[in-house]
Order: sequence, then structure tokens, then C-alpha cells
Amino acid sequence: MLIKRAPMFKASEITDLKLYCNRREFMVGAAALALFPTVAAATSTPSGQPLKATRNPAFNNSDAATKFESATTYNNFYEFGVNKEDPARLAHTLRPRPWTVQVDGHVAKPKTYDVNDLLRLSPLEERVYALRCVEGWSMVIPWIGFPLASLLKRVEPTGQAKFVEFTTLLDPEQFPAQRKGLLNFSSLDWPYVEGLRLDEAMHPLTLLTVGMYGQVLPNQNGAPIRVVVPWKYGFKSAKSIVRIRLVSDQPKTAWEKAQPQEYGFYSNVNPMVDHPRWSQASERRIGEFLRRKTPMFNGYADQVGSLYAGMDLRKYF
Ligand code: MTE
Repeated sequence: MLIKRAPMFKASEITDLKLYCNRREFMVGAAALALFPTVAAATSTPSGQPLKATRNPAFNNSDAATKFESATTYNNFYEFGVNKEDPARLAHTLRPRPWTVQVDGHVAKPKTYDVNDLLRLSPLEERVYALRCVEGWSMVIPWIGFPLASLLKRVEPTGQAKFVEFTTLLDPEQFPAQRKGLLNFSSLDWPYVEGLRLDEAMHPLTLLTVGMYGQVLPNQNGAPIRVVVPWKYGFKSAKSIVRIRLVSDQPKTAWEKAQPQEYGFYSNVNPMVDHPRWSQASERRIGEFLRRKTPMFNGYADQVGSLYAGMDLRKYF
């Protein structure tokens, strides 16, 4: 995601500021470790541990998978900063256990789930999806998770439920860019909120994701639990979710609040509708040199096209 804002600093000042931030980060981390060594040990992340899942051939992508190294070092996770390398560098501050996800709103059976129970709720499957970022790049990733629909069905949405709102953890101690002040360049209104229409959330392609590449989701990719919505631009796939709320009105998402002309609610991958500042007709697959044409709905038109029948996709972008 690129954020348009008035230049506040000269380039030289930004470099200094970055150095300052890095140093500050290091000092804060070192001080915390000195004061609370047992806390650091007890909350060490389970990322990197193997996670078993059966490959689901119905959701395969024959394109070569992006290198694990690239998928875990070139990330968008604004809670850690606006640079692609910030999440991998800083995500050690995220503590993915203990972790709960509150599922509530217009449902008959609201429930707060421990993430370990969520892992056992439904058989885990591996699906290879290409995730297309609105900025014009994409990756092919073997994700591990289960259909969001199987969780939503358990809580029994009522007739008033029309949309699903996802909320990321709000905790400035774990997410440095949520701290007020110099580190918060992004101008996003925390917590990160995303949303889907109920039928999009219930669609079999929509994956509640807990792992990738045969292992527990790395922190920088949204541990311990995120959504992956493969026919939409990557920013719809909210990371590190703590709440899934079924609502009757269309949720106000973080990116819509920040720049409504640029990031619409639907954000379906659509090569025919340009972003106001750049074309969406092609993309660069990370690891490839030449750009490739972007397919409608990121290649899932047969599966999801009917969800938008009769809608003007320029208006509902
Ligand atoms: N979720 C949260 N909470 N914060 C973010 O900044 N970035 C989004 C999305 N989910 C983001 C987020 C964007 S812009 C993209 S492209 C994808 O995460 C990137 O996912 P990846 O880093 O696992 O490839």
C-alpha cells in the first residue's frame, strides 16, 4: 500500500529519523529483555514449527510458489512500519500465544475462541493461492487454514448479519507503529479493520489462515491467525485478528477511512479499473523479472464472478 501525504521531512531528515527509530527500537527491546527475561522466554513464538495439513487439489495454483524467504521478508504489515522489510525485522515483538478471537455481533452463539481450539475446529488444508497486492506485485503461497465459513456456521449468523468485520490486535507494546509519535508514519487509524460482505466471507475460497509453507504462520505474515481472500487485493486479508464481528452495516475499513478515493470496500482484483495513481492491468510476480497481465478477480472469475452480477464494478471498486 502506498500512502499519499504531504512531505513532512526532507530526505536527509527521514534517513536520520529512520536511524533514530531503529536505535530506539533496539534500546527499548534490550531494556525490556533485561527487565523481563522470563516474559520474553515464555512468550517465544511458535512460528517455524511444522504444521500438518493436507493439500486440497481443488485449490491449487500450478504457478511456481514464491520463495519462502521472499514471502517472509517482503511484507505489508503497517503495525510494524511502512517499509517492506520492517515486519520481518520487528515482528519478534508480537506474541501470538496466548491469543483469543472473539466471534460475535449478529450471531445466535457468540463465542471467544482460544486460537489453539480454532486450530482443532476444522481439518487444516493446504491451498496454493496467489495473493495480488494493490501496489502491483504478487506472490504464490501455499497457505494452511480452513474455510472461514466453517467457523461462521458454528456461531449461527442471524438474519441481521450482512457483513463481517475483522479487527487486528490493538497493542502498541507489540506493534511499534501503533505507538503515538515518530514511529507512526502510516496515518492509519488503529486498529486495522477490514470487512467482507457475508456471502464473500462464506465463500469456499475465503480461508482462515494459520500457517504457510508447512509451518505455523510467521509473525510478519499475520500470526497467529489471518484471513486470505484470494480474489481481492491483499489488504483485504487482515492479519493477527482478535475479533470477527457480524454486522448489519458495511464496516468502515482502515484503508477506506485513510483514503476513500483510492481504496474501496470491495477491492476485487480488476485489471480494468485502475487505481487513481497507477494501472492495475499488470503485476510483477515476486522473483520474476517481466510483468504479467493481471486476470480478472485474480484468476477466480469462474468461482466468484456471480457474487457481483449486475454490479457496476467501477462504482463498487
Ligand atoms: N493486516 C494488518 N493488520 N495490517 C496490514 O498492514 N497489510 C495488508 C494485508 N493485511 C496489512 C494486513 C496488505 S496491504 C497486504 S498486501 C497483505 O496483508 C500482505 O500479506 P503478506 O505480508 O503475508 O504477504
